[in-house]
Amino acid sequence: MNILGIETSCDETAAAVVADGRRVLSNVVFSQIDQHRPYGGVVPEVASRCHVERLPGILREAVESSRLGWGDLDAVAVTCGPGLASALLVGVAAAKALALRLERPLIAVNHLAGHLESVFLGEGVPDGLAEREGLALLVSGGHTSLVQVRGRARPRLVGQTLDDAAGEALDKGAKLLHLGYPGGPVIERVAVGGNRSYVRFPRGPLAAPGEVAAGGLDRDLCFSFSGLKTALLYRLRDHPEDSVGEPMRDLVASYQEAVVDALIGRVRLAATRLRPAWLACAGGVARNRRLRERLGETAEWLQLPLLLARPEFCTDNAAMIAAAAGSGRGCRVDPPSALDVRPSFPLGVEDAASGG
Ligand code: KG4
Ligand code: ZN
Repeated sequence: MNILGIETSCDETAAAVVADGRRVLSNVVFSQIDQHRPYGGVVPEVASRCHVERLPGILREAVESSRLGWGDLDAVAVTCGPGLASALLVGVAAAKALALRLERPLIAVNHLAGHLESVFLGEGVPDGLAEREGLALLVSGGHTSLVQVRGRARPRLVGQTLDDAAGEALDKGAKLLHLGYPGGPVIERVAVGGNRSYVRFPRGPLAAPGEVAAGGLDRDLCFSFSGLKTALLYRLRDHPEDSVGEPMRDLVASYQEAVVDALIGRVRLAATRLRPAWLACAGGVARNRRLRERLGETAEWLQLPLLLARPEFCTDNAAMIAAAAGSGRGCRVDPPSALDVRPSFPLGVEDAASGG
């Protein structure tokens, strides 16, 4: 089964062909970072215009480099949410048109389900592991969640951020330090060799045992990053000497460590409480080498297998969307014209993909 995947939820224009839900035959990603950099963040209008201009060429390239013909495609999968409405619309419109033209099924995929699926892409995942219950940390620019995952069952949310996402905390931190956009990769670069204990930044407020957050989640499995960003702001106000040279390297290393530590703390607590059979991490922030290292240590301590998405599958891509569709994590929309975008689309309600 060859599936063409399309992803335009934010600032990457992407298309890919995946066979049998696992084998990536092609994976083409055009990152719009240069287009958004002058504004210090993603501008929805710029993103959707860029998707319109780039998507046709990206689609052609994805099919050509897969060495298949258009007629060899068995289905078209597309991200319908969550994401920027005007950006999602471009991918969804293209997917509908292709599904109709090729007379193939259209499969709507939740972007977060795609990120989850990215840990299974490629070789190296032990057979049968996915059928046992795992614990996954989803860390991107817009989301930070802990979810229980088992086979094709609906993922169950067990914790999430109460304010900023981890990637957002890194992006905002980099902005305060005038390091540029996107913040995650630049913070990772600058932090290399820095003193991670230079400043003790907050790791998110501690919750009392049994405290419940919105949605009935355990408060101590939820994240909070807005205090961290404010702490950085005050530190720079009170210690302007920290914004250059060696002190800045130490400050950035301490900031990155606070984000990573906050994530690892909740993963450890959730794993001890829920006793999963495996751990996983996906999403743009999962590219971070310090986070990967700390997750490796955590998995070893818990004696659990760790599934990490390959770096190129961490940040937004369409291979994960095609793979999610191929593993039954999407929702067939028939007729294709019934598909609408879902800018706010919670994970685990894939059957609600159609109908606005
Ligand atoms: O998953 P993604 O590509 O898009 C969303 O769905 O949001 O994640 C983007 C986020 C950004 O906040 C970016 O700063 C962060 O991932 N990111 C990183 C790294 N590469 C991207 N954060 C830390 N270290 C990295 N190497
Ligand atoms: Zn994403």
